[in-house]
Amino acid sequence: MEIDVIISADQIKASQVEDKLVVVLDVLRATSVICTALSNGAKEVIPVENIDDALSYKKRKNHLLLTGERDGFKIEGFDLGNSPLEFKREFVADKTIVITTTNGTRAIKNSIGAKELIIGCFLNLEAICNYILEQDNDICIVCSGTVGLFSLDDALCAGNIIHELVKRNPAINLTDIAFAHHNMYLQLKSNLQLSIQKGCKHYSYLLEHGFSADLDYCFQKNTIGLVPKLKNNSIITH
Ligand code: MLT
Repeated sequence: MEIDVIISADQIKASQVEDKLVVVLDVLRATSVICTALSNGAKEVIPVENIDDALSYKKRKNHLLLTGERDGFKIEGFDLGNSPLEFKREFVADKTIVITTTNGTRAIKNSIGAKELIIGCFLNLEAICNYILEQDNDICIVCSGTVGLFSLDDALCAGNIIHELVKRNPAINLTDIAFAHHNMYLQLKSNLQLSIQKGCKHYSYLLEHGFSADLDYCFQKNTIGLVPKLKNNSIITH
């Protein structure tokens, strides 16, 4: 088994994801939102790239929630934004959720050629690692990044996943970039959230714009035991 890493939604090459088990990460905040929505009983989450695609779903099907963000904020006319704390059971249980975000949903769409695509974040890190070890397939961890660039939140989550996997199976091969992500995690693991606070522009942006509760929420580990999977353009857990 080999692990590779891609640093942003804009860097995804078809040849790097095909035949791979791809794990898409967008810790702040799209994949944390998707895991939260499904763990609070949402039926499915449909990732779409743009606002018009989301609105066209609403025209076709009445009982769904339009969710997502631009510049971190709820989109006009949508039901919910991109704060995981909004996705409470009372709003999302049994609902189809359509989501469009700046980076996370783009990373999912750009990875569509993968053999299998699963959704990860710190919240379901252990469940993701258990699943990966059961599959015994080459892995590509796709970090959504921020507007095409490297982002430390996703990078350290990737490093943390790699660390758990090599601890349990030391025979796993790492590409150069996976080796670098693992070592970055080892260097900063004693206080991940503080390191991300110091080094991650998107963390500072969310903090300045009043989303501090989301930041604390997204850095909790292993509170969700689900492995969301993309099947026929929809993310589900079964
Ligand atoms: C994204 O997909 O770009 C993010 O989830 C942005 C955000 O924090 O809302």
